[in-house]
Amino acid sequence: MERLQKIIAKSGYTSRRKAEEFIQKGKVKVNGKVITELGYKAEEQDDIEIENVHLKKEEKEYYLLYKPIHTISSVKDEQNRKTVIDLIPTKTRIYPVGRLDYDTTGILILTNDGELTNILTHPRKQIEKTYLAKIDGILTGEEFQRLKKGIVIEKRKVIPTRVKLRLKNKNKNVSKIEITITEGRNHIIKKIFEELNHPVLELKRESIAFLNLDGLKKGEYRKLTLKEIKKIYSYK
Ligand code: URA
Repeated sequence: MERLQKIIAKSGYTSRRKAEEFIQKGKVKVNGKVITELGYKAEEQDDIEIENVHLKKEEKEYYLLYKPIHTISSVKDEQNRKTVIDLIPTKTRIYPVGRLDYDTTGILILTNDGELTNILTHPRKQIEKTYLAKIDGILTGEEFQRLKKGIVIEKRKVIPTRVKLRLKNKNKNVSKIEITITEGRNHIIKKIFEELNHPVLELKRESIAFLNLDGLKKGEYRKLTLKEIKKIYSYK
């Protein structure tokens, strides 16, 4: 639910101030009913009419991107660095669902659907995200057990759903750990391995729930299928 004037302004029809004037003058209808109250809240799917013109609802778009390194997971960057939005040619105001660090690669969903975003990011939904972390050194058996039992980060324990050793290179003194977690705090994977004194050297997010990067190369994207969108909505 959002204030009527905000929905009108967001649609690009007019400014928020002008929208307030239209409302006060009785020129705005919601689902056929005149609304003059400025605090009125409407839903995105409501039929909004201003001076007999129906507001066009923005089509929903859903993308799955293989985020390359050195891209920012936001709509704009103050330092003018390349953003993930630059990789998807659309005029729709999409945004990334959650964040991946500048130097992290992997799966990222972009959309203009606020409800789907809420489903994917709400802590209660416990959406699984799987990462492949290349780390400095090789975890001892003890460290591995500690990781499995959960690491306290900023007073809250992160208990991974799954942890797996994927690669061990004794010569180079590096290893790769697959780790699945359901939370989304910033830099969380890096903090976990920092806590274990095995800093992350490279990080890739391989999957979010049932979605993965199959068939995509770095920098490539595809649209989510209707079946995939419905499946995400089924978590609601
Ligand atoms: N955890 C991190 O440390 N970085 C990311 O980009 C995602 C999760």
